[in-house]
Amino acid sequence: MKFYITTPIYYVNSEPHIGSAYTTIVADIIARYKRFMGYDVFFLTGTDEHGQKVLQAAQKAGKDPQEFCDELAEKFKQLWKELKITNDYFIRTTDETHMKTVQKFVAKMKENGDVYKGVYKGWYCVPCETFWNDDEVIKDGDERFCPECKRPVKWVEEENYFFRLSKYRDALLKYYEEHPDFVEPDFRRNEMLKILEGGLKDLSITRTSFKWGVPVEDDPDHVIYVWVDALINYVSAIGYGWNDEMFNKWWPADLHLIGKEINRFHSIIWPAMLMSVGLPLPKKVFAHGWLTVNGQKISKSLGNAIDPRFFVNRYGNDVVRYYLIRDIVFGKDGDFSEERLVHRLNSDLANDYGNLLHRITAMINKYLGGKLPKPSKEESIDRWIKERFLETKGNYYSLMDSYRLTEALDKVWEFIADINKYFNDTKPWVLSKEGKIERLNTVLYNSLEAVFKVALMTLPMMPDTSEEVFRRVSFDEKPSQEHLETWGVLKSGSNVTHGDPLFKKIDTKTFKKVVETVSVGENLITIDDFARVDLRTAKVLEAEKVPNSKKLIRLIVDLGTERRQIVAGIAEYYKPEELVGKTIIVVANLKPAKLMGIESQGMLLAAKSNDTLRLLTVDGEITPGAKVS
Ligand code: ME8
Ligand code: MG
Repeated sequence: MKFYITTPIYYVNSEPHIGSAYTTIVADIIARYKRFMGYDVFFLTGTDEHGQKVLQAAQKAGKDPQEFCDELAEKFKQLWKELKITNDYFIRTTDETHMKTVQKFVAKMKENGDVYKGVYKGWYCVPCETFWNDDEVIKDGDERFCPECKRPVKWVEEENYFFRLSKYRDALLKYYEEHPDFVEPDFRRNEMLKILEGGLKDLSITRTSFKWGVPVEDDPDHVIYVWVDALINYVSAIGYGWNDEMFNKWWPADLHLIGKEINRFHSIIWPAMLMSVGLPLPKKVFAHGWLTVNGQKISKSLGNAIDPRFFVNRYGNDVVRYYLIRDIVFGKDGDFSEERLVHRLNSDLANDYGNLLHRITAMINKYLGGKLPKPSKEESIDRWIKERFLETKGNYYSLMDSYRLTEALDKVWEFIADINKYFNDTKPWVLSKEGKIERLNTVLYNSLEAVFKVALMTLPMMPDTSEEVFRRVSFDEKPSQEHLETWGVLKSGSNVTHGDPLFKKIDTKTFKKVVETVSVGENLITIDDFARVDLRTAKVLEAEKVPNSKKLIRLIVDLGTERRQIVAGIAEYYKPEELVGKTIIVVANLKPAKLMGIESQGMLLAAKSNDTLRLLTVDGEITPGAKVS
């Protein structure tokens, strides 16, 4: 059983944001679920690097386009690593293998009589990399705007190669009819059907006015239209034209996961291209909705194209993943709201799930010496919780299999509510007091087994959390469907660890939104703001560890006109004797503050990363007290 899943390949005109992270996280969840279910999975993501939009971004940055793309592609790769995305490959459209495949693919379309030369006269939207007819653009006086992104379009008149897209209209309609699940959700399928019913125009598939693209094999003045180049990634990544065995193993794709705005490319143009070269079509295109952030469109200029790391660092990777699936109905548009995220964290995760496990493991440790007990005779409430499990499991499979991810989590949380009810109704603390040890054993076993099942079902969404649960219940096998199939997988007698709560609650009274803290607009300061900070060079005269403190060092520094005492939290990174004689940078006009009873009359500057800290110094000799600006 194989499963081939893809995300869009993202434009490298800007850094990844919560929108690109959303699709990639969802794809990761599906990939992890399929692996759990025993499928051999190939999960592909990557970057779309050619075309005018990327070229212009490189020019704006004053960089060579390839160098620019290299840097940006690295940023995407790095982010996916940090978000624990389990993609099996990362394709870049500037990869040589890909570029060759694109040339061959287009040559084959031509061989099959589907490509001809003509003159394109029409509009072009660079941000969307899309051609528009005159009757499609939005008109306002003399100005013309993109119907998709509403930005100005440009008039283009060029000799181009065209693809006979119109020829495939009937075949596509027939395919849609015969494969009613080809495009999902349903309302997206209907939009595509409307376009097909309205008829298709041939598509310009080359450009001559710039060079940043894949040249046409036998006519290199033409570069291949960035969308044609990009779509071919789905076959070039898995060996089309260069590794038949691999290609035959994975193609057709089982799922192209995309955002709704690029559905036409995936559900009409791409299938027609595949028909032209005689390849089978993907099994499914799923076009999900669009996210806003705190009610606003994600956009660089609005300053909310926020690095997903800010959310992940503050709330945790699993929490962000959970929130995205649980709170935003998968398939529909939705709002990424930090208030809702914090609410979900506090109530669903900390209260319902984390606290449940915490209570169970506490009692197993308090009453049973931290060993998982052996269940005995069943009562009706025990049968009830097991039935509830069977029902949940069945719903979980069918909802996950049909990508109704939000509903799948809804069902799991209904089950969590039932486990809480089971636990509260059976009252293990009373059973212990009354010495009903057999009942106590049964109830605690069932409760923990039930939470273990939750950890299995949420493994695709919250992998780190589930692994932590597995550690605590001494489950050390590779988790897979077989462990979800039967009740009683946990082994009586094994150790049960009572650790910290799985999730930390956020205090809603003091919490300040990431968006408010980091949004670009608010982060910008004027030169006057900067000038208010009086930065000076200072020479370290004395340094000693503050008694009874692991972190603090007390320094006496020469500021030219005066001596100051500064207390700094750097003892884990520097020995006092290493500091003496160094010229450092201090904030000289900071209000004095007391640290462990010692007054600090300023602050020194240091750069800190995850595991180290280094002081800022100057590049050569300079007198103490020199102004830094
Ligand atoms: O379109 N909400 O790349 P792109 C949800 N290179 N998803 C969002 C989103 C939002 N606000 N913003 C972006 C391209 N996305 C082409 C694709 S594929 C052969 C070529 C996600 O960088 C969503 O998946 O503009 C959307 O389709 C994709 O990022 C667009 O990324
Ligand atoms: Mg886009």
